[in-house]
Amino acid sequence: MMGVLTLSAQFENEVINNIMARRSVRKYLDKPVEHAKLEAVAQAGINAPSARNWQYWAVRIIEDQKLINDVSEVYKQSNPDAVSRDPNFKNMFRNAPNLICVCAPKDGGFDLDAGLLGENMMLAAQSLGLGTCIQTGPVRFLLTNEKAKFFLDRLDIPEGYKLLYVIAIGYPDEKPDARPRDASKVKFISGETSKETSEDDGLFIDYFENAQFPGGDKACMKWLQEHIKYPEGYTSNQPQGKVVVSFIVEKDGSLDSIMVKSSPDPLLSEEAIRVVREMPKWKPAHQYFPPPRQGSEAVRARYFLPIIFRQH
Ligand SMILES: Cc1cc2nc3c(=O)[nH]c(=O)nc-3n(C[C@H](O)[C@H](O)[C@H](O)COP(=O)(O)O)c2cc1C
Repeated sequence: MMGVLTLSAQFENEVINNIMARRSVRKYLDKPVEHAKLEAVAQAGINAPSARNWQYWAVRIIEDQKLINDVSEVYKQSNPDAVSRDPNFKNMFRNAPNLICVCAPKDGGFDLDAGLLGENMMLAAQSLGLGTCIQTGPVRFLLTNEKAKFFLDRLDIPEGYKLLYVIAIGYPDEKPDARPRDASKVKFISGETSKETSEDDGLFIDYFENAQFPGGDKACMKWLQEHIKYPEGYTSNQPQGKVVVSFIVEKDGSLDSIMVKSSPDPLLSEEAIRVVREMPKWKPAHQYFPPPRQGSEAVRARYFLPIIFRQH
């Protein structure tokens, strides 16, 4: 079952947009990254959190294109098929002009710290107009091919450390589409009992503007005030308050799978469901595509509507 994760337009900011726009880049311009930019990326990296601030990592930034080309020649000789399959082959690191090699202690106990360092660097690079691709594929080759040893020797890896991964970095020469993300990997553990519903199937919301009552929230409240009928015999002694109704707003704006999530009274629940069924079509939710794929499309979305009952 696909889950629902909303990213409301109101939370858009530079950091989140930068995260959403990052993609692994595998085609680069023939233009080395300026040293100052590589330094800024490294600064962002080492400012990642690490266990007890031990910083058990070693970062090696390669600006020597000859080193990259020489080791790629070794790769070419060992993997002629892989190279011939890639018409754009420039080097074994997805063709990037520069590399960031990240090393961590051999026992694997600090790989997590090294991973955080890497994501910081990739996001910093993205914010500076650079593309990146984190890779472990080339590491396997470098660690197992005797002829590639000169490359590892140049890294000057500290005693007891291993090369963990490589980040290709450079000016992008492609704008890859976002690969799908599975929002069902995320679950919220809340205090309320939640009903899992199969109606939520097919709801996949990534970059998202929620559904809206026509005319917005105020128009919705006004409409509710005009249409709510208090249950017969309902007096001010009886419980009143907030009924939270949940429903799916379909792509055409119709409301479906209407259910009460919380309510002080079954009579109010009934009325809340009745009044929601009477509602006009809504403006459906939209999924936006971050750059490079601009635009949006209507998507199904579950909506939670609080309805306040007050005795007049
Ligand atoms: C630990 C790790 C190893 C990876 N190794 C490679 C690799 O060897 N070659 C490659 O092209 N991409 C590699 N990737 C990149 C993933 O394929 C990529 O992150 C994933 O498909 C999601 O795409 P996106 O980064 O564009 O969002 C690796 C990613 C991670 C996190």
